[in-house]
Amino acid sequence: MPITKVVVNLVDEPSYEVRIGKSLLEGLGAHLQKSNANQQANQQANQQALIISDSNVAPLYLSVLKQSLAAAKYRVVDIVLPAGEASKSIDCATEIWEAMANTKFPRDGKVFALGGGVVGDIAGFVASTYMRGVGVIQIPTSLLSMVDSSVGGKTGINLGAGKNLVGTFTQPLHVCASVDTLETLPDKEWVCGFAEIAKSAVIDSDEFFFWLVDSASSLVNRDEAAVAEAVTRSVVFKANVVARDTKEGKGIRECLNYGHTFGHAIELCAGYGTFSHGQAVAEGMRFAARLGAALVGTSPDFVQAQDELLDALGLETLTWTAAPEELLAAMQGDKKVRQGAMRFVLPRDVGSWELVEVDTETVLEHLQAREKSLT
Ligand code: GLY
Repeated sequence: MPITKVVVNLVDEPSYEVRIGKSLLEGLGAHLQKSNANQQANQQANQQALIISDSNVAPLYLSVLKQSLAAAKYRVVDIVLPAGEASKSIDCATEIWEAMANTKFPRDGKVFALGGGVVGDIAGFVASTYMRGVGVIQIPTSLLSMVDSSVGGKTGINLGAGKNLVGTFTQPLHVCASVDTLETLPDKEWVCGFAEIAKSAVIDSDEFFFWLVDSASSLVNRDEAAVAEAVTRSVVFKANVVARDTKEGKGIRECLNYGHTFGHAIELCAGYGTFSHGQAVAEGMRFAARLGAALVGTSPDFVQAQDELLDALGLETLTWTAAPEELLAAMQGDKKVRQGAMRFVLPRDVGSWELVEVDTETVLEHLQAREKSLT
């Protein structure tokens, strides 16, 4: 498989490369040695590397990454976190900061985030704050992190009051997406990635959307070429969005939250882990499309085409619901709420969307209609 390079071109910060291919971990150390990322960081021999991984991923890929970096003359240490969302905590961050300080981790050291979204978020967060910031290289090993969270520089930890409430926008120096690491990914995690790919395709363009419609069965069968193409298309889309609105301040990057307002409410009300993030986001996309039909003229053809795409990707309609009032309250607590108004990314059509403030009554009516349609 050829290696594809996508550049995230930024105006006020250094641009960086996302490499997508196979067996990339083996050559990562050598690649970094001669890449821009290293030139910018003025690397000397024996540069310190801290690999942060988790208890699921480390047994599979830590040793190959360590060898790759050691062969490129990095001095390598690692920290393996317990797998799971609980590791995105201030306690975990403190443990890592303390370990870095105790080993005199230097400012020109590099943090390597080896894992899925949780590892990427916590590793990015500690790297962006330790000594006011050291460089991070993202090595996503889940489909969701390859197509979304490893690119764009969002880092974060959770508080009791909600997910990702503390974090930074800190772009990585490099992203290494080696699709062979997906071979060990559990089914549930594949579905999460498919939902984010579908989200990207709907927001992006007819070209991406209809490619995905045609490729859905290849993806479900995990055809390697189709998977690599889906990762590439999603990264190209995300790179363009991030280039135009790096810190989500211009109302463009918010398009990446399509399906997430209702999706997060489902996850919260059903209890985290009851449904995968992907199932919740897919249901959020269905909800937003129907809201769009009422508010921004989204056509029934679009609603149907999106439903069919999600079905084809194994993201069938969720027949679960909580009381509409409970779902509404969960949406009102979401961090996307500004001055009390709920903001939804509503698709007008494939490749065309609007950020709309929707009043409580309208949202409640749609939640009630959804509940009725399920009974
Ligand atoms: N995952 C949404 C974003 O990166 O903005």
